[in-house]
Amino acid sequence: MANYPELKGKVAVITGSSKGLGRAIGERYAKEGMNVVLNYRSSEKEMEEVIRGIEAGGGKAVAVKGDVSEEGLAEKMIEKAISEFGKMDIFVNNAGVQVEAKTHEMEFDNWKKIIDVNLNGTFLGVRAALKYFVENKIEGNIINMSSVHEVIPRPGYTHYAASKGGVKMFTKSVALEYAPNHIRVNAIAPGAIDTPINEETMSDPEEKKGLEALIPSHVIGKPEQIAAVAAWLASDESSYVTGTTIFADGGLSLYPSFGPENKVQ
Ligand code: NAI
Repeated sequence: MANYPELKGKVAVITGSSKGLGRAIGERYAKEGMNVVLNYRSSEKEMEEVIRGIEAGGGKAVAVKGDVSEEGLAEKMIEKAISEFGKMDIFVNNAGVQVEAKTHEMEFDNWKKIIDVNLNGTFLGVRAALKYFVENKIEGNIINMSSVHEVIPRPGYTHYAASKGGVKMFTKSVALEYAPNHIRVNAIAPGAIDTPINEETMSDPEEKKGLEALIPSHVIGKPEQIAAVAAWLASDESSYVTGTTIFADGGLSLYPSFGPENKVQ
């Protein structure tokens, strides 16, 4: 199903796209007729399956192996976009990781890893995309994957919340800096979505029930619902939208404890 005809023939780079949200965005973009450059860190087999699926649907996809926290990967992905598809229109910084740890016991390496992938990786992707857009006078589009934890505090994952808070202000600052170039920069803040990152919660019925209870709509999101936001942000329908975060969270960021099911008022 293609909802945005203007996306046909556009070229997107999506980091961390062998599974989860990145994969769903790649598949949705391909359905819109876009050519996609995907990325995986180690799971070559999974990546091949995603590419085969996209090709079976008539789409075009290639992949670049690498770690977003390492300098050079973003440039390599853009080079691949140019060599395979002639250009790059949209860069999606999606790759992200989380590891639970109490802050007073958190290894510095654990803190650094989360900041390195979620925040530094986003910087490296944004920088490479901007350089390409500015030098080629392209009115490009950048989408950063944030989280509801850019505004909701997250005990046990303070480094994750810090990284996503950073993604939020980085997104806004870059959007302001490059608005005169007509380069749009936005973020998506998913709530709880059924992807491999939440495997443990989803496979434990009690934990899953607890999570559903916390979400005002009581529904855990599907990757396709986040991919739909990424498609809209890539499309001309959002042409006047820049420097903002779109929340797709079933109401999770709306102070659920004030909801009608809680007797706080
Ligand atoms: P996932 O764990 O299912 O997939 C993450 C993808 O990123 C995988 O393909 C993984 O290989 C890749 N990746 C991880 N580290 C990488 C690195 N250093 N370099 C390159 N690729 C790397 O996670 P999910 O759920 O798809 O998350 C995607 C993004 O969405 C992340 O930024 C995450 O923080 C964010 N998010 C996810 C939510 C959810 O409930 N699933 C909620 C809010 C935000």
